[in-house]
Amino acid sequence: MKQMINIALPKGRLGEKAYGLLEKAGYPCPELLEDNRKLVFENPEAGVRYFWVKPSDVAIYVERGASDLGICGKDILLEYGPEVYELLDLQMGKCRMCVAGPKEFIDDHSRRLRVATKFTTIARRHYSSQSREIELIHLNGSIEIAPLLGLSDVIVDIVETGKTLRENGLEVMETIVPISARLVANKSGFKFKGEEIRRLVSELGKVV
Ligand code: PRP
Repeated sequence: MKQMINIALPKGRLGEKAYGLLEKAGYPCPELLEDNRKLVFENPEAGVRYFWVKPSDVAIYVERGASDLGICGKDILLEYGPEVYELLDLQMGKCRMCVAGPKEFIDDHSRRLRVATKFTTIARRHYSSQSREIELIHLNGSIEIAPLLGLSDVIVDIVETGKTLRENGLEVMETIVPISARLVANKSGFKFKGEEIRRLVSELGKVV
């Protein structure tokens, strides 16, 4: 009997684009894009079951085996280091993790740099590789406001078009790492459903 593959999709535009690729690769489930509040969809003929979850939760579902596969940003993988296999770079959701600050900001190395971010692990690792002492301020969103209000000197955040930075008088000071969406797999699911998963990865790889 064909084993169903469970796939956690990030709710939103990235998830819809990723589903578009999976559909092209032979894993359709048209009901998924209908305007309803359902969160679980399956297509037994294609052997696939999809879940819509919050983007930052995808890796949690996959790591704990609630989902075999998931689509997840490299930012989340770097920040939380979940125990999952990273199978494919989907070449979408491209952006970069950056240090940004006010245009007029001059870094005074004699004192600790105040860094506001959602990505504390990435920021800590980045500055420790430069042996720079920092004070981390963990925020949950609208990070760009922090330097404007004097809460921090700089921010570490995702930059896609750069529009949010520009409109708030900030600019990129350093690029830490490029980011894109990845297909990730649960480690034991990869063993037990290896054949089905390898087939999906190979078909998906052809349409990326
Ligand atoms: C992200 C990021 C920036 C913005 C960058 O925010 O934190 O604020 O997108 O995009 P841009 O370079 O195209 O302007 P998100 O929408 O994820 O919301 P957040 O405020 O919760 O981080």
